[in-house]
Amino acid sequence: MAWKTLDDMDLAGKVVLTRVDINVPVADGKVTDATRIERIKPTIDDILEKGGKPVLLAHFGRPKGQVVPEMSLGLIKDAVSDVLGVPVKFASDCIGGPAKEGVAELGEGEVLLLENTRFHEGETKNDGQFAASLAALGDVYVNDAFSAAHRAHGSTEGVAKLLPSCAGRLMQAELSALEAALSTPERPVVAVVGGAKVSTKLDLLGNLVRKVDYLVIGGGMANTFLAAEGVDVGKSLCEHDLADTAREIIKKADEAGCEIVLPVDVVIAREFKANAENEVVPVTECPADAMIFDAGPKSVERISEIIAGAKTLIMNGPLGVFELEPFGKGTFAMIEKIAEQTKAGALVSVAGGGDTVASINASGHGADFTYISTAGGAFLEWMEGKELPGVVALG
Ligand code: 3PG
Ligand code: MG
Repeated sequence: MAWKTLDDMDLAGKVVLTRVDINVPVADGKVTDATRIERIKPTIDDILEKGGKPVLLAHFGRPKGQVVPEMSLGLIKDAVSDVLGVPVKFASDCIGGPAKEGVAELGEGEVLLLENTRFHEGETKNDGQFAASLAALGDVYVNDAFSAAHRAHGSTEGVAKLLPSCAGRLMQAELSALEAALSTPERPVVAVVGGAKVSTKLDLLGNLVRKVDYLVIGGGMANTFLAAEGVDVGKSLCEHDLADTAREIIKKADEAGCEIVLPVDVVIAREFKANAENEVVPVTECPADAMIFDAGPKSVERISEIIAGAKTLIMNGPLGVFELEPFGKGTFAMIEKIAEQTKAGALVSVAGGGDTVASINASGHGADFTYISTAGGAFLEWMEGKELPGVVALG
């Protein structure tokens, strides 16, 4: 890796500005999924162990440069303290007086959490003055927020240029997992890409066909590809206007020796609701008044065979509407196979994206993948082959 890590830094007695992503879901004042907080613990532990004083920079929601009380990080301060297992103090602003006082009063073994960086316009604008105000607070900058690294913001990009900087443990783990999956993978490599729309994942598909041996396409996206090949998908979600684009991707895949795997049978229903009356039909026999909600058993069998022969797999998206019973069957059966191969030591499996991780957790196999990313948008942009400003700035 081209960037420094915590191992390269002398942190004793230093104020360590640490960019984390604790943009966690909250309902009724409670954190409903603390994964992102759990995953920064190794970094905070290491900084404390090396005698540094961690000062956390983070965003929370999208307040657009305004002070929005519902998006105050003060609301999750106690949850952060509980998960990290250390006292966490809070400063009511991430720059200026309150931040400086917080830093000055920070004791050994304590963590300071600064208020939402996005309460300042300068954050998303990556304003130089704002970044300088952040930098003025600390001696060293650690970026542990891979999942926000696709944003060129003051706290992810600007400040990295002003202080000695390095990657935190989670950032390191995310980058090595992604490198193992896409930059230097053991072949054959399978990518599973699902989701509603091809239009949101064009760059992704274009990049993947050049890099992987099998591209399994699921969800609404598969319908667009099927329709482009002349298959009648009835009333299914489908971007008919992207038929040419889909055919181009198929052609590119052909040229690159990548096999695009589309469903051969599908689960159809006529209502978009849980337990809607449904049946399995060959993909060429979707009735005009029906919708495709999942891949059928023959499709899953074929995908499972491919997974059985693969060495590396990267997953971003489900095969169907897994949130609605029983239309998660295809997705869950595929995840089961990925988990089985991974546990047997035959497969390196990496997954990322909000929906994807939700489907893996719902299947009960959250612990059985080689690596599950905390990132959504950043994971996607990395898979698209794009440079992430927050990562580049560490180099
Ligand atoms: C996320 O939750 O996806 C990250 O924290 C980034 O948030 P953003 O999409 O609002 O930049
Ligand atoms: Mg996002």
